[in-house]
Parts: sequence; C-alpha cells; structure tokens
Amino acid sequence: MSYWVPGKIIICGEHAVVYGVPALAMPIAKGMRLELIEGEIDEFVLSFDGGGTTFRAREDGAPLEKMLYALQSEFQSAFTRKQVRVFSELPTSSGLGSSAALGVGLLNIACHQCGVTANEQELFEQAMKLERFFHGNPSGVDHASIIAGELIRYEKGRTSLPWMPCTPEAMPGLVVAHGGPHQGTEKAVSALRRRADSNPKWFQSCLETIRNIVNQTERALLDGDWVKAGQLLSENHVVLSDFGVSTPNLDALCDKAIQAGALGAKLTGAGCGGAMIALCQPEDRQKVVRALEESATVL
Ligand code: PMV
Repeated sequence: MSYWVPGKIIICGEHAVVYGVPALAMPIAKGMRLELIEGEIDEFVLSFDGGGTTFRAREDGAPLEKMLYALQSEFQSAFTRKQVRVFSELPTSSGLGSSAALGVGLLNIACHQCGVTANEQELFEQAMKLERFFHGNPSGVDHASIIAGELIRYEKGRTSLPWMPCTPEAMPGLVVAHGGPHQGTEKAVSALRRRADSNPKWFQSCLETIRNIVNQTERALLDGDWVKAGQLLSENHVVLSDFGVSTPNLDALCDKAIQAGALGAKLTGAGCGGAMIALCQPEDRQKVVRALEESATVL
C-alpha cells in the first residue's frame, strides 16, 4: 500500500504556541509518499533516497529508530518483516513538518494494516507520542494541521476536536521558500526558554504581541484582507527576530520578498535556519518567486 501525507507551514504564532498562545497553520501541497512493501529481513526497516539511507526499529537507537520501535511495539502485525520506503519532497530540518508528516503517514499505514479506524483526535494523540522522540515536548501544531488537512487555529492543551478550522477561500498569493537546514527544533525551543526564564516580563509582553498578531491575522485571512495579513506576518517576524530565532539569511529572504512586491514575509517553524513564507497579491507571486529563487529553493 502507499500513502501520501502533506508537509505544513505555520502562518503565525510559532514558538509562542509552546506557551499556550494560538497559532495558525496549514498543510502545503508538497509532502511525502510512504510505500509499504514486504521486508527482506525479519525487521521493520524505513528507507529514504530510494533505499540509500535506512533506519531499523531499535529501542536504544537514534530518535528515528526509537520512534520506529515504539510504533512497531504498538502495531505489531502492521510492521513485522515490512519495509516502508519514503519518497519525500520536504527538505528535512526546515520547519516544513517532515517529522510530523512521517509520523502521521506511518500511523495511517499502521491503522490500515491492523484494520483499525482512528478518528482525528486519536491520530493526533498517537502522533504526539511519536513526535516526542524528535522534539521533546512539541506543542502539537505540526500534526494538528497535517491531520486536519486545512488551515487551522491551534491552541495547545485544547486537544479535543474541533480545532477551529479557518477556511478563507484560498491562499493564492502564498510563497514558501527554503533557505537551508535549521539547527533543530528542540535546540531553538530550549534556547528561547532560557531567554524567557531570564527575562519573564519581556517574554510575557512578546507573547501578548504574538497573540494579538495571530488573532488579527485570522480575521484578516477570513476577510480576504491580504494587505493587512501581510503586514501582520512581517510584525510576527520582528518578534521572532527578538526571540533570537531568525538568521541573517532568513532576514535577507524576507527583505528580498518584500522588495519584489510581497505584502509581508516571515520565517516559518522553529527558525535558526529553515523556511520562510511570503504573502503577496496573486498577480505579484511570480515576481516574488523569481526573487527568492536567486538564493533559496521555492517549494
Ligand atoms: O519543528 P518546526 O520547525 O515545524 O517548529 C515547530 C514549531 C515550534 O513552535 C517552534 C515548536 C512547537 O512545538 O510548536
């Protein structure tokens, strides 16, 4: 069997979402295909790059191998003597949800193989367990948007459905670009936590600023007010820079997008490298894409 799962972007609210502030996130058109085949050895093997890179379920292995072990323990019959081949369009360590997509994809395969029907909430809870192998204590926004399959407003702790999907008619002027791998979500989240602990007053006021940005962005998107939404994304980027999670390259990509006509731009995901997004009027999209392509990969 084969299963396709999308990546995701965070429109606004990353990092603050870890502290209970809402975030807006959505799946993207790029993703990964997982193919389940009979294994050649008596183990559960995951392979990337057409078989060039392989990982096995190991209780004491790397995070991905531990995750496979946990999955195999939970869904014995699904993965015994099986191989899953991953064909991904998502750059890893980029803030585009590759680990969440992998977890959700594997869970869907597991449920299908075991004849189990999991609802979105159950899938979300299982996916959170898997994501903890990579990111320690994730907010859950990545899985929520991938599982929901549409733009959502996500708030940590409110794990019961519905996740308040926002459904603006379309996001025709959105550009996603990848400027290189990031340093790891857990590292970025821990560094910010240290800054938050050393200056709680400053941090609380930043969280309130982001909460306002998220609320206003949601309204602007629902109203189709791209100009306002673009401004808000750029404002969110400024706070993320204050958090120390932007880089000169991400700042330069955002500036480039705006110079080429974007209404606003920001990093997306954990930052410290990785991807950025730009919002523009549909007619300006190609100009923005061309400008970003000079120094990044546009998805
Ligand atoms: O792993 P990434 O790059 O998609 O970032 C996840 C978003 C954070 O808010 C930074 C972390 C989290 O758990 O929500």
